[in-house]
Amino acid sequence: GRPPRKLSLITPSGRLTLGNHLGALRGMVAAQDHATCFFGVSDLHAMTTAHDPAELRERSREVATLMLACGLDPERATLFRQSEVPAHTGLAYLLECTALTGELSRMIQFKEKRRQAGGATGARASLFTYPVLMAADILLYRPEAVPVGDDQRQHVELTRDLALRFNRSYGPVFTVPEIEVPPVAARLRDLADPTRKMSKSAVSDAGVIRLLDDPATVRRKIGRAVTDSDTGPDAVRHDPVAKPGVSNLLELVAACTGSSPEAVAGGAPTYGALKKLATDAVVSVLEPVQRRYGELARDPGAVEEVYAAGARRCVEETGPVLYAARAAIGL
Ligand code: ADP
Ligand code: NA
Repeated sequence: GRPPRKLSLITPSGRLTLGNHLGALRGMVAAQDHATCFFGVSDLHAMTTAHDPAELRERSREVATLMLACGLDPERATLFRQSEVPAHTGLAYLLECTALTGELSRMIQFKEKRRQAGGATGARASLFTYPVLMAADILLYRPEAVPVGDDQRQHVELTRDLALRFNRSYGPVFTVPEIEVPPVAARLRDLADPTRKMSKSAVSDAGVIRLLDDPATVRRKIGRAVTDSDTGPDAVRHDPVAKPGVSNLLELVAACTGSSPEAVAGGAPTYGALKKLATDAVVSVLEPVQRRYGELARDPGAVEEVYAAGARRCVEETGPVLYAARAAIGL
């Protein structure tokens, strides 16, 4: 039958991390072979909290360049900037006329981020409507299913609710996506605080390995990674509850080398040996990405060309969906 349609967005809210690579980019590269892929850099989503214009522009270029460096092939997948495809904001407005303020107020991420932004007088209106724009992002590309981790589940449920409500009220315009439990991928934690996931928008850089970190930086960050004071003969073992720091390092090596945490533990007698293994494994994963990034970054015009071609493709792809929604709602 027809290949499945796959949509993935990455928000350029910080510099990409090893977690983004192992947990997202690697899977995106693999999907190019068997799915019709739309890979978006969601720059509009990076403006829902305080942002710096020059920095945003820089990050959105850097993210695309890194996606290409990681193996995204613009011949086989469509890479686009969300802001260059007007249907996203166009459809978002129609969906705002479908969504209710009560259901948006219940979004857990909104409540959390509003608090971080200083409450109702500090939080942008776009933070409130963010899940509606995300619903538009998804519905425009008609994926049959959306893989979601726990942090996005509520938003994808809202997407389904809005699509169903719109279809019921105005006619069958939208494909309602299934919620798919993603395959168990590596979930890297912050090296300095293994209770948190490694995140590109972390407040502190100390425990975050960036895709563009040089080997000395990788060695330093892993060298300072939190472990514990256990000095017993089986101190190096995979036990995420009792030993979160050590287990994170074992999972990191396993994800980089295609091994298992238990097997990695067998080859690392001490924390020092484990950190050495981890440094080598990370540097080996980053080295080819950084080499390719260096080549691509020399020609930023070529990256912009990829974005421009992607935008043309997405305008074609999304136009009919927006048009159908406009017609159905009475415009
Ligand atoms: P971040 O927290 O780095 O800002 P996002 O929440 O924007 O990342 O997620 C972008 C993609 O990267 C998602 O597919 C997400 O599952 C993946 N991802 C983010 N952080 C990690 C991590 N620490 N380990 C594995 N995958 C991750
Ligand atoms: Na994030």
